[in-house]
Amino acid sequence: GRSAALVPAAGSGTRLGRGPKAFVEVAGQTLLARSVAALAPHVDEVLVALPVGTELPPGIPARAIVGGETRQESVRRLLHATAAERVLVHDAARPFLPEGVIHALLEAVLDTGAATAALPVADTLVRAGTGEQAGDTGCWGELVSRENLWGVQTPQAFLREVLLEAHAQARSQGHTATDDAGLVARLGGRVRLVPGDARLFKVTTPGDLALAEALARVWDG
Ligand code: CTP
Ligand code: MG
Repeated sequence: GRSAALVPAAGSGTRLGRGPKAFVEVAGQTLLARSVAALAPHVDEVLVALPVGTELPPGIPARAIVGGETRQESVRRLLHATAAERVLVHDAARPFLPEGVIHALLEAVLDTGAATAALPVADTLVRAGTGEQAGDTGCWGELVSRENLWGVQTPQAFLREVLLEAHAQARSQGHTATDDAGLVARLGGRVRLVPGDARLFKVTTPGDLALAEALARVWDG
């Protein structure tokens, strides 16, 4: 069956503070161009959701639609703009996407109908507690076991029908989530965890952009 990459890229990049994030450059190439270039060789078509009033820059092998107010709404619109059997949803804000992760996801989705890149949590986890002063929540509360805890990344792969149904349910129930696999899991759907990659971090803050600049030197060769 046909496959499509769906790239939500319609965010405003508030935390980064450099305007719409998809158009921010890392070592001379935008986050959007990098993400699309990684996906395009592995799918039949690439669709991107852009901020209203913006255009797809030349040379990016994708079809553009206008995104929504939220990431969830942007993905929902992307889903309705393709007829592909399998979809790979990937944040434009994660520009370093190894091809092994794509292959693993496209295979895993045939088994369960949904799969996401994810990494076992490496840091010690703690829930913040209250200090001596009222309202001070910056103190060590209790340790949280990191056993079986994974950090969820994108790409996430789905049979399109499965994700369409999850979005339809979420929308009618007024439920919002930060990612698509969460919407499927919420309905009892199985989501395979596929090993992601540390380089798949999301460029969110100015510090992440510095990290991306450094990584680009190695990645671009
Ligand atoms: N996104 C989208 N439509 C929205 C909001 C976000 O397509 N209405 C996309 C972003 O472009 C990004 C991905 O979802 O590729 C992850 O979102 P995030 O990292 O939060 O990006 P922004 O929303 O742009 O950043 P911020 O939250 O700091 O404003
Ligand atoms: Mg956001």
